[in-house]
Amino acid sequence: MKLTIFAATGGIGRQALEQAVAAGHDVTAVVRNPKKLSPGVRAVRADLAAPDPAVLESAVGGADAVLSGLGPQSASDAGIAWQGTRAIVRAMKATDVRRIVVVSAAPIGTVASPGRPAPPKHDPGDGIFMRTLFSPLIKAALRKHYADLALMEDVLRDSGLDWTVVRPPRLTDKPLTGAYRTAYGQNLRRGLFISRADVAHLMLRALRQPETLQRTIGIAY
Ligand SMILES: NC(=O)c1ccc[n+]([C@@H]2O[C@H](COP(=O)([O-])OP(=O)(O)OC[C@H]3O[C@@H](n4cnc5c(N)ncnc54)[C@H](OP(=O)(O)O)[C@@H]3O)[C@@H](O)[C@H]2O)c1
Repeated sequence: MKLTIFAATGGIGRQALEQAVAAGHDVTAVVRNPKKLSPGVRAVRADLAAPDPAVLESAVGGADAVLSGLGPQSASDAGIAWQGTRAIVRAMKATDVRRIVVVSAAPIGTVASPGRPAPPKHDPGDGIFMRTLFSPLIKAALRKHYADLALMEDVLRDSGLDWTVVRPPRLTDKPLTGAYRTAYGQNLRRGLFISRADVAHLMLRALRQPETLQRTIGIAY
C-alpha cells in the first residue's frame, strides 16, 4: 500500500514507519524534523501547529491510507492532536483520500467533548479499581491532554472519512509481540499496558480489516 505516516519520529510513529517499510509498503513520513529519520525514508516536513495546506495535500495525495501517531508531549502542547488532525482531515478531503488510523488513549471513552457531551460514566472494560481510583486520578492529572484527544475523536467522527481510533492504556517501549487483546468501543479488563510497537502493529493490521471502519478499538496485553 501507499501510506502516509504523520509524526513518524514519535514513539508509536517510528514503530509504524519501521513496520510499514519492513512489510513492503510505499511510505511517506510527515515530520517536524526529517533529520531524525533514517536515510532513504521519503520525508515531508510539516509542523502541524501551523501547517501549510498545500504541503499536507502533497503528502497525502495518492495515499491508500494515512496513519497518525500525533499527540501532545506536554500540557502546554495540548490542542495539537485535534488541530493537527483537523488539518490532516482537510488535506485528505481535498485529495480524495479516505482511510485514516490514529492514536488516542484508553480513558477517552468516558471524557466529555462537544461531540459527545454525555459519554458513559465508566468504560465497560474497566474493573472496579480502574473505575473508582485510577481512572479518576489520571483523568484529573491529564485533563488538558485528554480534552485534546476527545476533540480529535470528534474531528474524525464528523469527518465523513473511514477512520479508526486506537485507544491504548499505558505505553511501553517493549518489543513487538503481535500477541495482544483488542475490543471494539471499550477497554480491556486488567489491560494496563501495551508496547508502542504493538499499537503500531494494530494500526497497520486495521488497514486490512474493514470491520474497523468508524470504530474505536481498545488494545492491551
Ligand atoms: N504515554 C502513554 O503512556 C500514552 C498512553 C495512551 C495514549 N497515549 C497517546 O499516544 C500518543 C502517542 O504516543 P507516543 O509515545 O508515540 O508519543 P510521542 O513519542 O510523544 O509522539 C508524539 C508525536 O507527535 C508529534 N508532534 C507533536 N507536536 C507536533 C507538531 N506541532 N507538529 C508535528 N508533529 C508533532 C511529535 O513530533 P516529534 O517527533 O517531532 O517530537 C511526535 O512524533 C501520545 O501523544 C498520547 O496522546 C500515550
